[in-house]
Amino acid sequence: MSGVNEIRSTFLDFFAKNGHEPVASSPLVPRNDPTLMFTNAGMVQFKNVFTGLEKRPYVRAATSQKCVRAGGKHNDLDNVGYTARHHTFFEMLGNFSFGDYFKDRAIELAWTLVTREFGLPKDKLLVTVYSEDEEAAALWKKIAGLGDDRIIRIATSDNFWAMGDTGPCGPCSEIFFDHGEGIPGGPPGSPDEDGDRFIEIWNLVFMQYEQVSKAERINLPRPSIDTGMGLERIAAVLQGVHNNYEIDLFRALIRASVEATGVPAEGAQTASHRIIADHLRASSFLIADGVLPSNEGRGYVLRRIMRRAMRHAHILGAADPLLHRLVPALVREMGQAYPELVRAESLITETLRLEETRFRRTLARGLGLLDEATQDLSAGGRLDGETAFRLYDTYGFPLDLTQDALKARGIAVDTDGFAVAMERQKAEARANWSGSGEAATETVWFALREKLGATEFLGYETETAEAVVTALVQDGRQVETLETGASGAVVLNQTPFYGESGGQVGDTGIMTGAGVRLRVTDTQKKADGVFIHIVTVEEGPVRLGDAVELSVDHDRRGRIRANHSATHLLHEALRTVLGTHVAQKGSLVSPDRLRFDISHPKPIVEPELDEVERLANAIILQDAPVTTRLMAVDDAIESGAMALFGEKYGDEVRVVAMGTALEGEKAGRAYSVELCGGTHVGRTGEIGLVHLVNEGAVSAGVRRVEALTGAAARQHLAEQERRLKDVAATLKVSVADVVERVATLVDDRRRLERELADARKKLAMGGGKAADAVREIGGVKFLARVAEGIAPKDLKGLVDETKKSLVSGVVVMVGVGEDGKAGVVVGVTDDLTSRISAVDLVRHASEALGGKGGGGRPDMAQAGGPDGTKANEAIAAVEAALSAS
Ligand code: ALA
Repeated sequence: MSGVNEIRSTFLDFFAKNGHEPVASSPLVPRNDPTLMFTNAGMVQFKNVFTGLEKRPYVRAATSQKCVRAGGKHNDLDNVGYTARHHTFFEMLGNFSFGDYFKDRAIELAWTLVTREFGLPKDKLLVTVYSEDEEAAALWKKIAGLGDDRIIRIATSDNFWAMGDTGPCGPCSEIFFDHGEGIPGGPPGSPDEDGDRFIEIWNLVFMQYEQVSKAERINLPRPSIDTGMGLERIAAVLQGVHNNYEIDLFRALIRASVEATGVPAEGAQTASHRIIADHLRASSFLIADGVLPSNEGRGYVLRRIMRRAMRHAHILGAADPLLHRLVPALVREMGQAYPELVRAESLITETLRLEETRFRRTLARGLGLLDEATQDLSAGGRLDGETAFRLYDTYGFPLDLTQDALKARGIAVDTDGFAVAMERQKAEARANWSGSGEAATETVWFALREKLGATEFLGYETETAEAVVTALVQDGRQVETLETGASGAVVLNQTPFYGESGGQVGDTGIMTGAGVRLRVTDTQKKADGVFIHIVTVEEGPVRLGDAVELSVDHDRRGRIRANHSATHLLHEALRTVLGTHVAQKGSLVSPDRLRFDISHPKPIVEPELDEVERLANAIILQDAPVTTRLMAVDDAIESGAMALFGEKYGDEVRVVAMGTALEGEKAGRAYSVELCGGTHVGRTGEIGLVHLVNEGAVSAGVRRVEALTGAAARQHLAEQERRLKDVAATLKVSVADVVERVATLVDDRRRLERELADARKKLAMGGGKAADAVREIGGVKFLARVAEGIAPKDLKGLVDETKKSLVSGVVVMVGVGEDGKAGVVVGVTDDLTSRISAVDLVRHASEALGGKGGGGRPDMAQAGGPDGTKANEAIAAVEAALSAS
């Protein structure tokens, strides 16, 4: 008997030996399919390889693919736990040929694996073929030697496999295992085929066509092969058990749940243990692939799965949250084949614990209400929709949980009544926002929020994805198409584009589809979760319902991520250096730079900035992983995560942590821990370098720092260095001597300026013997000079000094500038101003210089004129005026 792990590797090894590339399972959230909620078959990741759109370096592949069938078209949730073979999560083993081998080789490989490697007896096997596929029937006869009684022709879609309404498809052939006469049930195609005797173990799809629309089916470029074998089923067959939940893997998980609850595996609670084991797998793998519980989309399917399991933990009487305690058993069983499970172990554990802790607060009360509401009902009865809605709205009971809880008693739920109650609540919400005074342009986003729900954001995990256009908006109104050249907004069911929020700018990139190319110039988040892509249509038209491929500008996003993570590091470093009064007051995270405002009463000085930079860069050098956890807001804040005061957070928040503190009281613990919905680097080393370039005031008590990271920081520093080198070259010294040299030059210059000014003054004062030139005019001392090379602004000072040395008298100074223009200043000592006015005298001088007027006070007046050659005439004019007075 082989365990699940051996069966998986036997399968992959067998196909590797036969020239197949072993390819890792793709994530549960499909990257390349806009309509699929979860990856539900092995071929999903190869869809575009089959159609020829995508090329891979191999033409044969084998995988063990994680699959979830819940919440979407294939919804197995109701049955899981109560039947032998239904699961929300399962593994699909498959081999693929992309235009390489076809039917004959596919049948030969399958038959060899099943009969030789797995050693199943030939007489226990039979196959089905599509009724029109005579070729397949003949091949089974030839290769496997099966008689006509063991080749069953099926005319229905059971033997024509299609991935959905569109996509690659083709006839298929299934291998069945006969569990023997002891088990009721008939062969496929017979009226009692649904019995358990004949179990399908492997589906071989002969991929030949592509369904491009409902009406049109075309040939694939080359016939191909897609096969799918449920690992749990084949394990049950090989382990000689009839129920998938009895294979080694499930027994180990159920054992863990038995040990944790003390409730035996067999007996009345068997289904509860099975549900817990199954849902533990689905929940853990979904969380590992980036899905977190929420109230919409994929996150809500996850929440429904988790809560369904949690109710069964309650039935088992678990006193404390149970599911997270089973994670180690799951990692032990499956971690080797799926390393992502090991990597995400703590995220899975915490997410499960948080969800169960919260749900338990309302679970018992909700169940009490349910008991009360159904006490008068018996089998065949129906719970009213109003109560089901109250359980949903107030107690967090997903509808299917309520249905599951009543299933054993044969009581149904009025789902129409539930829908009516739900609609009424939406109508109330609508009335609220339409009356809330939002601008008309915003109303459209609220309407879309209500109609479409929140956009699913895939951008934490991926920068590319496919999506469906769910709304187009132009000039504030919904439209059906956007034509080439038009601008507008596109809403999609899901997107990897980050919508501007929390200071981080929106993503840009491109959106393409059949004959469609849109440039996304910005992404905004509106009305509580509608992502709107601001686009210009380069090639159109784009229509409502179009499938598009999305690609975020990777380089730009990379720089944004680095800047956002660096902001967190600076925040912590600023608190360390300046004190814990530092709180974030705003931030801008753009691709080019980051800006961060903090509360701090005074300028941040150079040594502080230097220390902040040193601390932040030390964490960058740690190249520490950046981890994200989902927590309840209160728990997160209690655990010391920094949150923004006044910011609106949901019930659960993302908590981003990075680095290990090396110094201070936090030494040894996480360096930065913040509530944050933004996108971050995977490891701090990706930031490269952070460099502060600016510090300044924003308003009273708020300072702003600006910084660069990575290549931008390096470029900035290189530029600074180049300037420094240029300076050194000009000064003809080495870079090391520049500072000293500049200081010397500045000193020299100051000294020279002083000397020059002194020399000029001396010159103007006639070499210090001004008294010699003093004359007497009309009993008044008079001194006049023409001062070449003295700027007019310096004349006043000279006149003042001369007035002082004269004690009583009149002074005239004419300065002639290098441009040939003249300035003239007349000074009159205070004892004379009652009879002689400097203003009058300067007017005469000005006239002589070809100027107009002048002005000042009786003791000091100045004027100018264009003709400096008339300096002596100006003096003579003043002299004449003085003698006439
Ligand atoms: N794609 C095929 C299936 O899912 C193999 O059954």
